[in-house]
Amino acid sequence: MAKTIIDLKRADLTLGNAAASVHVLKGIDLEISAGQSVGIVGPSGSGKSTLLMVLAGLEKLDSGEINIDDTPLHALNEDQVADFRGRNIGIVFQSFHLIANMTALENVAVPLELANVPNPFEIARRELTSVGLAERLNHYPGQLSGGEQQRVAIARALAPSPALLIADEPTGNLDTDTGRQIADLLFSKQVERGMTLLLVTHDVGLANRCSRQIRVRSGRIEDDSAVRQSEATSEAAIA
Ligand SMILES: Nc1ncnc2c1ncn2[C@@H]1O[C@H](COP(=O)(O)OP(=O)(O)O)[C@@H](O)[C@H]1O
Ligand SMILES: [Mg+2]
Repeated sequence: MAKTIIDLKRADLTLGNAAASVHVLKGIDLEISAGQSVGIVGPSGSGKSTLLMVLAGLEKLDSGEINIDDTPLHALNEDQVADFRGRNIGIVFQSFHLIANMTALENVAVPLELANVPNPFEIARRELTSVGLAERLNHYPGQLSGGEQQRVAIARALAPSPALLIADEPTGNLDTDTGRQIADLLFSKQVERGMTLLLVTHDVGLANRCSRQIRVRSGRIEDDSAVRQSEATSEAAIA
């Protein structure tokens, strides 16, 4: 049995101010084993991105627990969470989030440098080469295609060798073919490095490539393929 890398207990969060507050996460329980790929689907506004932000330690819960790799993020202060995230969690966004006035190489190397990782430019060059961008190291984001920009973002996310890779609609801004190439890259990196991959997507085909699918609706988990499987197994055992 693989070890549990994510353990979310009764996770509850309301966002916004009094005039416009939204109960976004309504007591979510979720356990994910290390090395799994998990596709998260659900209607727009159902809380998928917020769930990922909580798992990345970028949003703090109002109540409940979040344990990543046995570290209780809910019990850490902001600096401790940021330090943990930098070492253990890679994040990829729909809109790439690259720094416009830095080259591809700098976008990957500078966060490593800020985290005092030795040889940041060497690591950045290696990561960019491994995502197929050896010929684009000195290009600025504005000089790269959408697919290339997402490759830079993936290289940046992978550079600290995180155990957990979180991607929020990583193919959402890309055409179908480019989106498929980016998805192929994410899955091949996940397998190659034995990472856990959490992927929010509108694309059911992409979610179905994951070893587990979760459907979120209105701040709750409405359907979880792992729960369905374990229920089917226990029903078979009873029958
Ligand atoms: N900072 C915020 N303040 C108030 N409401 C928010 C905030 N962020 C998200 N929401 C609301 O929370 C709900 C869930 O948002 P989100 O997690 O982005 O959904 P999804 O990614 O599934 O589309 C939405 O109704 C959204 O309007
Ligand atoms: Mg979203």
